[in-house]
This record gives sequence, C-alpha cells and structure tokens, in this order.
Amino acid sequence: MSDFPDAAGAAPVRLLAISGSLRRNSHSTAVLRNIGTLVPQGVVLELMTLEQVPPYDGDQDGAAPPQGVVELKAAIAGADGLVICSPEYNYGMPGVLKNAIDWASRPAFASPLKGKPALIITASPGVLGGVRAQAQIREALAATLARPILRPHVAIPNVPSRFQDGQIVDQVTVETLKGALDDLLDEIRLVAR
Ligand SMILES: Cc1cc2nc3c(=O)[nH]c(=O)nc-3n(C[C@H](O)[C@H](O)[C@H](O)COP(=O)(O)O)c2cc1C
Repeated sequence: MSDFPDAAGAAPVRLLAISGSLRRNSHSTAVLRNIGTLVPQGVVLELMTLEQVPPYDGDQDGAAPPQGVVELKAAIAGADGLVICSPEYNYGMPGVLKNAIDWASRPAFASPLKGKPALIITASPGVLGGVRAQAQIREALAATLARPILRPHVAIPNVPSRFQDGQIVDQVTVETLKGALDDLLDEIRLVAR
C-alpha cells in the first residue's frame, strides 16, 4: 500500500469510519478499529458510532438541529472519505445507519455527503456477510450523491471466526481490507484532482 498524500508536508488524508452497530462488542466496530491500524502513512482514521444521533425528525432539521447531528455532519464534511462497516438486520441495513444517512443527506443534493468517496463493508456471523444490507447502503448513498466506490463487495462472512482478542487474525480478510482501502484512497486522489 502506498503512502499518502504524495506531496511531502501535505495535510493528512482524513477518513471517517462509521459503524452501523451500537453494540459494545460489535464486530463491525471492531473491523473499523482494525482498519485504523492498516492505514498507510499520511492517513488518519477517526471512528464514529451513532448513539448520539436521534431519529430523523424534519421539524428538528432546521437552523438548530440536535447536537449529535451537528457533530455527524461536521465529521463527514471534514473527512476526505468514509469507511462504513455495518451488520445486516433482517436482510437490510440497520435503522441507525439509515437514520444517520437521512440526517446527513440534507440539504438534498448539497449535503456533506455530496461527492464523498465511501467504502462500504458489511460483516456478519452468517455465510453471506451482509451483502443484502450492503446493496441497500450503496443505494442510499447513491441517492445522496456520495461516491460509493465501484469495486467488488467487501463482505465479511463468519465474522467472529476472523477475530482473536479484538484483532483480525485471518490474513485473507486483512489483505481484502487493505485492497479496499487502497481503492478508496485512489478514489480520494481522483476527486482531489
Ligand atoms: C434484529 C436482528 C436482525 C438480524 N438479521 C440478520 C440478517 O438478516 N442477516 C445476517 O447476516 N445477520 C443478521 N443478524 C445477526 C447480526 O449479523 C449479528 O447480530 C451481528 O453480530 C451484529 O453485528 P455487530 O457484531 O456489528 O453488532 C441480525 C441480528 C439482529 C439483532
């Protein structure tokens, strides 16, 4: 994986990692923590979970939205790219993630999500790795004019078996995540041009 950015002394590239799970011992959040250890020189990754984002309410989506929403939108605006990792709930994306995308998507077509490169990852104890949720996340981000990156799905099946003591020990998963991260950084380079 090549270091980033290319110019010496340039500001670091900022990735915002968003977990679709609120669970304390979430595998999705653990995947994102592990990705934080895989980023190359010149890249920083900040992790965000969505406890502070209330249910979407158009009446509150005005001049003074809830603080959790202000922070979410500021974090997205300040990031060069997004890394989302989520479980699948009942064949779809978790409500908390869809809710966050809904808040962050306003004003429509001019929100902090517009033009934002995004890597989407799903993880599940099941054999499909959450691919159905992944399709929904991609579709919702497309509606916001974000740039979900075009690459094969990064879906991690049997996710508990990939971990030991909070670390991903499965090398295939590690290499897949590194490759996906590379593709995200390529997309960020493209957008910055
Ligand atoms: C309400 C609910 C629905 C679920 N539905 C699915 C599903 O459709 N597909 C799947 O692969 N896993 C499903 N699961 C299992 C989750 O993938 C599993 O709980 C996972 O570990 C949650 O992610 P986390 O570890 O990041 O919290 C479901 C879990 C819950 C709580």
